[in-house]
Amino acid sequence: MVDVPDHVLRNRALWNVRAQEYAAAGERAWAQSTPAWGIWQVPESEVSLLPKDLNGKRTIELGCGTAYVSSWLARRGARAIGIDNSLAQLATARRLQLEHSLYFPLIHGDAEMMPCADATFDFAISEYGACLWADPQRWVAEAARLLRPGGQLVFLTNSFLLTLCEPAEDGLAAMARLLRPAFGMNRIEWPGDQGVEFHLSHGDLIRLLRRSGFEIEDLVEIRPAAGASSRYRHVTLEWARQWPCEEVWKVRKRT
Ligand SMILES: C[S@@+](CC[C@H](N)C(=O)[O-])C[C@H]1O[C@@H](n2cnc3c(N)ncnc32)[C@H](O)[C@@H]1O
Repeated sequence: MVDVPDHVLRNRALWNVRAQEYAAAGERAWAQSTPAWGIWQVPESEVSLLPKDLNGKRTIELGCGTAYVSSWLARRGARAIGIDNSLAQLATARRLQLEHSLYFPLIHGDAEMMPCADATFDFAISEYGACLWADPQRWVAEAARLLRPGGQLVFLTNSFLLTLCEPAEDGLAAMARLLRPAFGMNRIEWPGDQGVEFHLSHGDLIRLLRRSGFEIEDLVEIRPAAGASSRYRHVTLEWARQWPCEEVWKVRKRT
């Protein structure tokens, strides 16, 4: 029998509850044909998360939630697959597939241990999915195993700096000062059973990516436009205009 790590079980329970809150955002994102990313909805034209040519490419979305990212990939000709740890999130994804008559495989599973053969995919992506909620020592190794040599991994998550400045109390936005030590940061459990997140320092993440067989191509620190708005409360626009609150890592599996 497979031993499922406690953070995977806890995050599954959390996302089975949160799924309802995320359904409306999933519906909006499925309905939009041009991708926009992260909590500020920065347009694809500014951050270029997707490869220019996806036609016929095999793609995997790690922690796909309602799978709108995979819907954008599939509409661009990719042979998309999404994996997610929450059946409730996947139920929304399946409903939206029906509504849009756009079908691709959705797997219920853990991105740290995927039921796929080695070197299967050309492109892997995660937007606040496995890259935030799964153990980096495990999901990065899995992404490296699943990508073919030369394949690309792109992920968008909270910046390391934001995590240093976020108060533990729910409902409070990031402050303009450091609230926790940077050294040794890895697993973070916010109070009130909000699940288990993972945040590595840039140095630790670079070493992990390189050790796993990736070359780093870019680190994009997202700056929202003046006047941008967000439905999230953990960071204000004033903060995010001064410091990066989200970052996009673009890495490629060594040939
Ligand atoms: C914030 S959603 C990401 C989806 C979408 N991009 C979004 O921003 O709404 C986080 C998703 O990660 C999934 N997740 C958490 N841990 C996971 C794991 N170990 N493997 C696969 N998916 C996981 C959750 O079930 C949840 O659907």
